[in-house]
Amino acid sequence: MKNIILCGFMGCGKSTIGKALSDICEMSFIDTDSFIENKTGLTIAEIFQKYGEAHFRNLEKATAEELSFLGGCVIATGGGMLLNPDVADIFRKNGIIVFLDTPLNIISERLKGDSTRPLLLREDRDDYIHKLYNERYPKYSSAANMLFDTSGLSAIDSAKAILTEIKKKQWI
Ligand code: S3P
Repeated sequence: MKNIILCGFMGCGKSTIGKALSDICEMSFIDTDSFIENKTGLTIAEIFQKYGEAHFRNLEKATAEELSFLGGCVIATGGGMLLNPDVADIFRKNGIIVFLDTPLNIISERLKGDSTRPLLLREDRDDYIHKLYNERYPKYSSAANMLFDTSGLSAIDSAKAILTEIKKKQWI
């Protein structure tokens, strides 16, 4: 069975919707950030701090390779992971990639006060989120097999609607 891979910007709902989706599909749930943290024994912030972002991106690619051998998993990716076309190719071989399209105003609200994401620890945080969102949006779109607009939906309703769509397309 194929994997279902969720991508999108930080705070778009990948982990909460992914967990809900895995529950209703009775599939295993994997969050790539947690996977990397467990494997390295370091938090994402510590990895960035000690080894830099490029090293973290290498760990993400190695994670994609490892997880692509699995099947029947719902995988919530880190917000920068699918920006690497190699990672998208690896996941696409055995998976459906869903871009969770969540409006910028909701994302900004959710990310307010967050101190766990190293990329956001900066003075011009709001402007930076805006810039990054606009830069990344087309990349998520082209990496994904399917775009899903989460506006106004709870995690469980998003998960149900994504499953319906995937089944309609006979992808799983
Ligand atoms: C990142 C998103 C984070 C995490 C890391 C980098 C990004 O994951 O992987 O801080 O580049 O967008 P979430 O999308 O789960 O916040």
